Amino acid sequence: MSKTYTITAALPYTNGPIHIGHLSGVYIPSDIYARFLRIMGNDVLYICGSDEHGVPITIKAKKENTTPQKIVDRYHKNIKESFEKFGISFDNYSRTSEKIHHKTASDFFLKLFNDGFFEEIISEQYYDENENQFLPDRFIIGTCPKCGHTEAYGDQCEKCGSTLNPKDLINPRSSISGNIPSLKSTKHWYLKLPEFEDFLKNWILKSKKETWRANVYGQCKSWLDEGLKSRAVTRDLDWGVPVPIENSAGKVLYVWFDAPIGYISSTKEWAVKNNKSWEKYWMNDETELVHFIGKDNIVFHCIIFPSMLKAHGKFILPKSVPANEFLNLEGSKISTSKNWAVWLPEYLNDFPDKQDVLRYVLTVNAPENKDNDFTWKDFQLRNNSELVAILGNFINRVVILTKKYYDSTIPKPSKLNPNDNSILNEIDNRTKKIENLIKNFKFREACNEFMNIARLGNKYLADEEPWKIINTNPDRVRTIIFISIQISSILSIISEPFIPLTSKKIKDMLNYKAHKNSWTWDNISKKDFLISENIKLNEPILLFSKIEDYEIQKQIDKLNNN
Ligand code: MF3
Ligand code: ZN
Repeated sequence: MSKTYTITAALPYTNGPIHIGHLSGVYIPSDIYARFLRIMGNDVLYICGSDEHGVPITIKAKKENTTPQKIVDRYHKNIKESFEKFGISFDNYSRTSEKIHHKTASDFFLKLFNDGFFEEIISEQYYDENENQFLPDRFIIGTCPKCGHTEAYGDQCEKCGSTLNPKDLINPRSSISGNIPSLKSTKHWYLKLPEFEDFLKNWILKSKKETWRANVYGQCKSWLDEGLKSRAVTRDLDWGVPVPIENSAGKVLYVWFDAPIGYISSTKEWAVKNNKSWEKYWMNDETELVHFIGKDNIVFHCIIFPSMLKAHGKFILPKSVPANEFLNLEGSKISTSKNWAVWLPEYLNDFPDKQDVLRYVLTVNAPENKDNDFTWKDFQLRNNSELVAILGNFINRVVILTKKYYDSTIPKPSKLNPNDNSILNEIDNRTKKIENLIKNFKFREACNEFMNIARLGNKYLADEEPWKIINTNPDRVRTIIFISIQISSILSIISEPFIPLTSKKIKDMLNYKAHKNSWTWDNISKKDFLISENIKLNEPILLFSKIEDYEIQKQIDKLNNN
């Protein structure tokens, strides 16, 4: 039955390019899910956009002696391009500096303000006298009270992962000037989170234990067990969505208040462009909302944003929040400041036609339940011994044999024997298994099962050895090749969520539009075959190529020479 889905992928901060950690944590899994649900015939809206506010962007602008707008313009373009090249199939990619977002976020704030969900609190906050500005979040650095790390930020310690307030820091200093800050009083608006505790406990603790990933549920539970406090949703900054009430000059919405509203603004932007209703995707109880995020975003998507949505009133809540753990690189934590990362624009430069290789490797190594490691050696091995040697080899052999024996025209099969029926059945079972795995956000296992189908195809050809009987039993060979092309057509469909560019190449080679039946996922398991006899296949093209040791060494050297 067709359903409506709103699938969101965390809006990336627009202060640098995207790296493999982002891709593996959020964008590949969400793209697999969105593509799968679309092929299954659902109404899917898959949205994202650039998160263009927040202190890190302002800091970067200051460092480069330019404006935040220039920084976000540069990286918005850069990030959007990377997503397009990797086939991330967003229905809309917006940005939070857009007018429609400022309006949506302001209105949202005003509604909560008018309905009494904020507390107004005047407090003393750090101030840099030289720069004449307040020092919220990452504008202040100091020693972490929990682990002693001397470079902890006002909002978080990256060493031990603790969430912090500026006042928690020992020996605080301004990250702009290095000066010791003074204290100055200022007024801010705090979301009354304690009022949502009961609602959250009922919603999460009572009903999500079985369906949400253990890491997500566990984090929520520990937040709720500790008890929630009101949280400031405004800041003294000049970059962001201005606080839409009187006498609040120099104040903007906290980036974590406005960014998730960006999902809604992105939907509105899409609806305007396509003449559709946005409410269907946010205010209809039948619609399933799913947030794809990294584990550092859990509290915002499971506690704070749902409270905001609940306070506002008419919005649906997420059905699931499949957060991933972190991906490490060559045994160490990915770090932007240490340049310990694989940046997508550089990857594309070095491997211009290997987007699907990275998609595949990141999927089978996805940090779904625990942190995981990306190594270049493993990347090479997966490419050479799986994509080239199994999938590529199978499809290539099938298309080449068809060309050699039948001038590329699909032969008419004779009666299937038990071996033919058993492989078709086996593939059918695995297809159903893949469906269930994807529905349950188990993309790694699903992708492995997909490769197993190609393995079965190879084994079928190796067992049947059509090349040995082409002269003695041409009838049987016609059937073997027919079945092999049928398996290839199934692979072209199942591969789409994982490696969409390759899927398209296989479909084109098999001339998929010319066949009687349409190549939808649903048709895989029908009695009838996907392929029709007498259709001419296109010229074989190579799907994958071997990656040599020197190419891998170059990448490892690049990392180590940082
Ligand atoms: N920019 C944030 C990050 O990269 C994610 C924002 S997600 C949203 O961690 F919900 F706020 F949009
Ligand atoms: Zn710490």
